[in-house]
Amino acid sequence: MESLKEKINIGKIPRHVAIIMDGNGRWAARHGVERSFGHEHGVEAVRSTVEGAGEIGVEYLTLYAFSTENWKRPKSEVNALMRLLVQAIENETGELMKKNVRLSAIGDLKKLPRDVVQKLNECIQTLENNSGLNLILALSYSAKWEITEATRKIASEVMKGNISQNDIDEKMFGKYLTTAEIPDPELLIRTSGEYRLSNFLLWQIAYAEMYFTDILWPDFRKENLFEAVFDFQNRERRFGKTSEQLFT
Ligand code: FPP
Repeated sequence: MESLKEKINIGKIPRHVAIIMDGNGRWAARHGVERSFGHEHGVEAVRSTVEGAGEIGVEYLTLYAFSTENWKRPKSEVNALMRLLVQAIENETGELMKKNVRLSAIGDLKKLPRDVVQKLNECIQTLENNSGLNLILALSYSAKWEITEATRKIASEVMKGNISQNDIDEKMFGKYLTTAEIPDPELLIRTSGEYRLSNFLLWQIAYAEMYFTDILWPDFRKENLFEAVFDFQNRERRFGKTSEQLFT
């Protein structure tokens, strides 16, 4: 039988896939374990997804690992998540190197504990000359934070006389976002059966295709990514045009 991966059209892979990894807590509850175990198992899902994305030639994969709102969770859970991040970065760097993955991070990184930032920077440096998949971790990230920051920076440039208010257009605004060098996601995936955007890449996903699955994040594997990509490839993306215009 033809596998899902073989059914994917390699000429039509979304350049950028963004994922809202949701359902770790519910996965833990279903297995009768603490929430932190759900997050731990989430790392396996990250590993498999990164591998799958590399295999089919996705260029950018952005994972929503920690939102600015997640700081409001119980301190014990926030600490466990931060520890897990340091551990995961430490353990996975070798494997990411082998897979030729480059790493970067977006978000209000100065809010992260010092050891997380340090590990993250070390890993980013180790992987900086790789040329395969670009893995982007959204950490202490929210779209409203990002858009507000961009607006503040642009206002400051206008005040200093470096740019005129008439220069401000969509293209220029995009350059002030944390994703300035990255093409917009074409496919946004959210796991766990929730239909929300949760303050993720709101500017960048203006024309992204959305894919929702009931699978809880710790159970997500590369086959599920292939399923989402296959579904994406069978949609008609019109960007505001009519169907007829696309084929004439
Ligand atoms: C959402 O599930 C998930 C998170 C807030 C954390 C995501 C983190 C990981 C998958 C682990 C580390 C990641 C990397 C990149 C190494 P939830 O806790 O909101 O689940 P719930 O809605 O079921 O409670």
